Amino acid sequence: MYPVLNKFFGTSTKEVQKPLQVDTLGLNPERIPAHIAIIMDGNGRWAKAQGKVRTYGHQVGAQTLKTIVRFAGQIGVKAITAYAFSTENWKRPVTEVKFIMELLSYYLTAEIEELNANNVQMRFSGSREGLPPAILKKMDTAVAVTKNNTGVILNIAVNYGGQDEILHAVRAIASQVQAGTLKVEDITAAVFEDNLYTHGLPAPDLLIRPGGDQRISNFLLWQIAYAEIWTTDVYWPAFTPDLLVEAIKAYQSRERRFGGLVSK
Ligand code: FPP
Repeated sequence: MYPVLNKFFGTSTKEVQKPLQVDTLGLNPERIPAHIAIIMDGNGRWAKAQGKVRTYGHQVGAQTLKTIVRFAGQIGVKAITAYAFSTENWKRPVTEVKFIMELLSYYLTAEIEELNANNVQMRFSGSREGLPPAILKKMDTAVAVTKNNTGVILNIAVNYGGQDEILHAVRAIASQVQAGTLKVEDITAAVFEDNLYTHGLPAPDLLIRPGGDQRISNFLLWQIAYAEIWTTDVYWPAFTPDLLVEAIKAYQSRERRFGGLVSK
């Protein structure tokens, strides 16, 4: 039987990912970031440096994501949000846009069984508007099939823009007010967060940007208010679990004050 069907037939035997001894990696097990956000940048430059077409970089970048998600799950990270396609990426050549959509479609077909067998819970953040119906259908299936999985959450940001997300939330909240189901004075941060594409996920603790640039690029604008940022010149396809450990070590060495004072 296909593992993907186990859910429906109730015979699921999930591969429980073996936890790694994180202290042997030099990490403090008490301070593993629960949610890591990743801007998977540098795919095109990496491919060019190999004498290959840009899309090859996306292909290898998708493999890198798989490796990192698996490793992150083993060291106790609860969720990864990966920026796969932004609302601004539609400006790229149509062949590149098509390639990224096809890559996503491939993963949601060919790799979903493995992700499911590895107990990964899939989610998506972003606008559904403009995405091909066939992709939306596969995204919905992936979410439905993996929704009871208890391993690492892989939240893929597709057709995602932080500003678009905020507008989307404002419109949803305004409609509730207009319909009389929500009072203006009841609009709290929690209500706002419930209307974001990332609802149900805690704010990222750590934001990783490979590829050498030092910017946010419209990613998780509300959610990263107090995230620690870690960047590297390494291009995303060449990113490794060792670099993730390095990023987490840097994170663990920082003092998070959330606007407060140093705790004595
Ligand atoms: C940024 O690198 C990367 C993207 C816009 C796309 C990232 C997409 C993937 C890694 C594949 C996603 C697929 C799945 C299955 C999640 P860039 O192209 O801007 O690189 P550059 O800055 O070197 O040009």
